[in-house]
Amino acid sequence: MKKCFALILSLLLVLIGIPACTDDTGQNNNSHNEGGTIPPAAAGKILVAYFSCTGTTEDIAEIIAEETGGALHKILPAVPYTEEDLDYYSGGRADREQADPNARPAVANSVENMKDYEIIFLGYPIWHGQAPKILYTFLESYDFSQKTIVPFCTSHSSGIGSSEDNLHALAEDAEWLEGRRFSGDENVQTIQQWLEELKLNTDNDISAFDLESGENGRAPTVMLNSGYEMPVLGLGTYSLQGDICKNSVRAALDAGVRLIDTAYMYGNEAEIGEAIRESGVPREEIFVITKIYPGEQFRNPEQAIEDALDKLDIGYIDMMLLHHPGANDVQAYKAMEQAVRDGKIRSLGLSNWYIEEIDDFIAQVDIMPALVQNEIHIYYQEQEVVPYMHNLGIVMQAWYPFGGRGHTSEILQDPTIAAIAEAHDRTAAQVILRWHLQRGVVAIPGSSNPDHIRENISVFDFSLTDAEMAQIASLDRGEKHDWY
Ligand SMILES: Cc1cc2nc3c(=O)[nH]c(=O)nc-3n(C[C@H](O)[C@H](O)[C@H](O)COP(=O)(O)O)c2cc1C
Repeated sequence: MKKCFALILSLLLVLIGIPACTDDTGQNNNSHNEGGTIPPAAAGKILVAYFSCTGTTEDIAEIIAEETGGALHKILPAVPYTEEDLDYYSGGRADREQADPNARPAVANSVENMKDYEIIFLGYPIWHGQAPKILYTFLESYDFSQKTIVPFCTSHSSGIGSSEDNLHALAEDAEWLEGRRFSGDENVQTIQQWLEELKLNTDNDISAFDLESGENGRAPTVMLNSGYEMPVLGLGTYSLQGDICKNSVRAALDAGVRLIDTAYMYGNEAEIGEAIRESGVPREEIFVITKIYPGEQFRNPEQAIEDALDKLDIGYIDMMLLHHPGANDVQAYKAMEQAVRDGKIRSLGLSNWYIEEIDDFIAQVDIMPALVQNEIHIYYQEQEVVPYMHNLGIVMQAWYPFGGRGHTSEILQDPTIAAIAEAHDRTAAQVILRWHLQRGVVAIPGSSNPDHIRENISVFDFSLTDAEMAQIASLDRGEKHDWY
């Protein structure tokens, strides 16, 4: 009711032409950053809320939103501040409000989807050494528990001083980061450097999955740097064809598997699409990865993307990978980037990419790969590649999680694995999958056997000890089982 009154009042004031502290920018504006300083994983979770009467704080807020990809929200006063109100040391309205501990000037607008934001940049001008009282009103209007607030301010000359500490009491449940004062003509580099130092993306740890939150038949997800979540266990479909492929996908979906990996090269995208459409599982619950292949597809990537969309026929593609490095791979990736902008693909990644290729590749593209899918198993652990990619914010995914064709039985019978499996009363396959997950590697075991598929997604009721993880780490032989 109060809000409603404030809104009407503010509209009336605008209608009769009182200007000052309102304009039309108090809207949420989800602008995703391109080449910003914060990995885009966090972008959809960032809000840049600010109050500004003469545009100084607004300029800084806009830069922060641009750099972080965060949504911009201008806190509008229900009764705009006139020039007279802002004339400080005149005993005017702003002076009086600042002197009154109980002053809570009404806010005209609100953040509808506050629950979606995890990080809130909160900007304000310094008024008599403190935040304007309208910030108090704003902070008292929402539940900030579980959220991080990063204050920033502008001023004529004062520092942020006690203004930030005094705001803490108004949202005690939030995690408050140290604030920062900016001058009106702050250069962008200073702001970028500050944002980098904040390391805001660190809570999205792509190298340590939240396995506790999973249960047998329901794998937890990892948040990709694209802002989308991907299950940490899936079904690999290499070598599955025709009805066998369809039945396997159906069995996997029935068992609770929600990540399906395919590729143009596997020749089964149509069957996978069909199985998904017929499954009755809502499309948005399923995460589908496909890949385009060097050669003809890299030469004409736009066509390759359209072909994948047609064959799968499931609307959008969750993730598309380049299957291998190869001639024209950067151009092929750029075509995928365009498909992301067009809403046809959601996330991008690479397959069979290693340390020596990744930096050079990243330098040439705009969208950071969200995933690298490589051969990884207990005899080929990629102990350097995995942390290297993790440091870049890239999720690692293992194809051949059991060592691949011709090697699976040797790996499943490995004595170390067998002993650990026995100790946990689990199968060797379950121990190996658990090992992949505990080291932060997503696994996509391939199987057409419904019992095995169910077994593979039942690894959330036990865990390996650090000693067992170390024992398995020592099995690494650097033994690659495929040519890429
Ligand atoms: C009521 C009032 C009090 C102010 N008090 C201070 C102050 O204590 N220290 C200071 O450096 N600047 C002070 N200023 C100046 C503002 O902090 C500065 O101009 C700010 O950048 C304005 O931000 P804005 O353009 O986003 O509204 C005050 C301004 C007003 C209107």
